[in-house]
Amino acid sequence: MKKVVLTGHSKGLGKALASALVAEGCEVLGISRSRADEEQGLQQVTLDLSDMDALRQWLESRVLRSFLEGAEQAILINNSGVVSPVGALGTLANEDIVRSIELNVAAPLVLSNAFVEQTAGVPDRRILHISSGAGRRGMAGWSVYCATKAALDNHARAVHEDGVQGLSISSLAPGIVDTGMQADIRSCNAEQFPQVDDFRNLKEGGDLASPDETAAKITRILLSPGFGDSVIADVRNF
Ligand SMILES: NC(=O)c1ccc[n+]([C@@H]2O[C@H](COP(=O)([O-])OP(=O)(O)OC[C@H]3O[C@@H](n4cnc5c(N)ncnc54)[C@H](OP(=O)(O)O)[C@@H]3O)[C@@H](O)[C@H]2O)c1
Repeated sequence: MKKVVLTGHSKGLGKALASALVAEGCEVLGISRSRADEEQGLQQVTLDLSDMDALRQWLESRVLRSFLEGAEQAILINNSGVVSPVGALGTLANEDIVRSIELNVAAPLVLSNAFVEQTAGVPDRRILHISSGAGRRGMAGWSVYCATKAALDNHARAVHEDGVQGLSISSLAPGIVDTGMQADIRSCNAEQFPQVDDFRNLKEGGDLASPDETAAKITRILLSPGFGDSVIADVRNF
């Protein structure tokens, strides 16, 4: 049995990924603050992953350990993320910077560590970080988001060097996907985010990928025997 732990399964790309993985016969444990529609093969946990105390308590509850029991292939997808806070340095609220780092970086790293510890006997283990092109270049107004996604990329590189038995890892940029996050981006003003008109034009031009088509590509990459050959990857190159 393939068992998948997926953060941010309630909306956007994660919701499409949950459906695609269930359709592939995977058992999925979704973790978000809100719930998705009930679906056969999908178990759901309601958790705020920017709350480190709540995450620690949940890991102590053994729900993750019992979900992973009996897996022949175990997968963790770190997908939850926020683009906020958006704005130039000096204009951001410090608590928003910390919340972004907790959700976008601390939670994926803590979950990855727990996942590897709790899947010691599983022959095929895979970790997928949902990264961003923004982690691979600097973009005005997105210093926090760019830094958090760059952190995931370098975490994947270093974990790959660890050479953990049976573990493959990849940090994958999903392209520009028509989700709530893109709506948030388009609602920024140009002072906060100078490139906002480019993103509005992409939407108006119908140039955003749909969550379903992106999820189908990611699922293919994730379940393929070559997963992890590219530790730093971009959906658009597959
Ligand atoms: N859309 C794009 O164009 C794009 C481009 C590059 C990278 N990405 C990356 O793709 C991933 C998915 O983004 P998306 O576009 O699908 O965004 P989205 O539509 O805003 O969905 C974000 C998901 O993360 C969950 N989430 C947010 N805050 C959370 C919290 N505190 N605790 C637990 N879960 C939380 C949300 O669930 P709840 O609200 O229910 O908690 C939701 O399921 C993100 O990592 C994003 O950085 C997206």
